[in-house]
Amino acid sequence: MKTRITELFGIQHPIIQGGMHYVGFAELAAAVSNAGGLGIITGLTQRTPELLAAEIAKCRTLTDKPFGVNLTFLPVLTAPDYPGYIRAILDGGIKAVETAGNNPQKWLPALHEAGVKVIHKCTSVRHSLKAQVIGCDAVSVDGFECGGHPGEDDVPNFILLPRAADELKIPFVASGGMADGRSLVAALALGAEGMNMGTRFMATVEAPIHDNVKQAIVAASELDTRLVMRSLRNTERVLNNGAVERLLAKEKALGAALKFEDIIEEVAGVYPKIMKDGAMDAGAWSCGMVAGLIHDVPTVKELIDRIMAEAHAIISQRLAGFDAA
Ligand SMILES: Cc1cc2nc3c(=O)[nH]c(=O)nc-3n(C[C@H](O)[C@H](O)[C@H](O)COP(=O)(O)O)c2cc1C
Repeated sequence: MKTRITELFGIQHPIIQGGMHYVGFAELAAAVSNAGGLGIITGLTQRTPELLAAEIAKCRTLTDKPFGVNLTFLPVLTAPDYPGYIRAILDGGIKAVETAGNNPQKWLPALHEAGVKVIHKCTSVRHSLKAQVIGCDAVSVDGFECGGHPGEDDVPNFILLPRAADELKIPFVASGGMADGRSLVAALALGAEGMNMGTRFMATVEAPIHDNVKQAIVAASELDTRLVMRSLRNTERVLNNGAVERLLAKEKALGAALKFEDIIEEVAGVYPKIMKDGAMDAGAWSCGMVAGLIHDVPTVKELIDRIMAEAHAIISQRLAGFDAA
């Protein structure tokens, strides 16, 4: 399948694996790229730029296909060593960067000078337009359904994607709620040139996370996610569990007076315990409503091949059949 996104990143299929904290290691990124998509290493999961450089080098030993790095600009007081991470990206010969969180404008000249294509993740049309104006090469439009941070506008993809298509000139992928060939064809119909998946890639053989996490996603339905940290304007969609219920009870009790310190136990530093140790109630972890569409743990190649076969069948049979009628 050829779209502006496959052309931009030099990939076979218009499928991107979004950056995921403590999930997006070299093993997963390489598996996605080897299967013809764009795999992405999550920059900040590597505690230092040196460790990111080592993770990039490791990924190179696992694939000779293009892969990218996610750089998330966090709303924190003491910023990570972003110049160092950018240097690791450039020195590592990376040609695709997924930015997210704050405006990436400051870093674009250095990235573009080195021939890096930048796809910025946005949860609104206005932020997507801003990304276009500052010179991003593409956007990943993340609907309200998504796992992680859906922003504060709550616009689902059936509205957000065609709105983005009406306004944007640069190509974009649909992100949030994408799981299978139906998602891909729907995304293309709504104006996107591909799709970005997070939660679906967690439930794969190669995702280097504890099997408890994969089984929790398979067991979950579309009703099992919750939104937390809304009053802090840092909304996150997570899978419900004991820690999340405790967190929500605190949010209800404290209302607008809630501070980050009140919920530190449920949200800070919990990812290694969950993703590596499989301690499923250790805290709140990002998960999309798309869990309701995930029923198995295939290899990444099986998943991507299945998505592409299903997408082609829908286009050439189901949709073509309607057209003829
Ligand atoms: C466990 C998990 C961790 C994530 N961590 C990040 C992150 O560190 N940076 C980022 O830009 N997006 C992050 N995301 C968002 C994904 O890149 C992607 O945009 C999102 O999962 C898409 O929605 P979906 O889960 O419905 O496919 C995370 C998502 C999940 C599920």
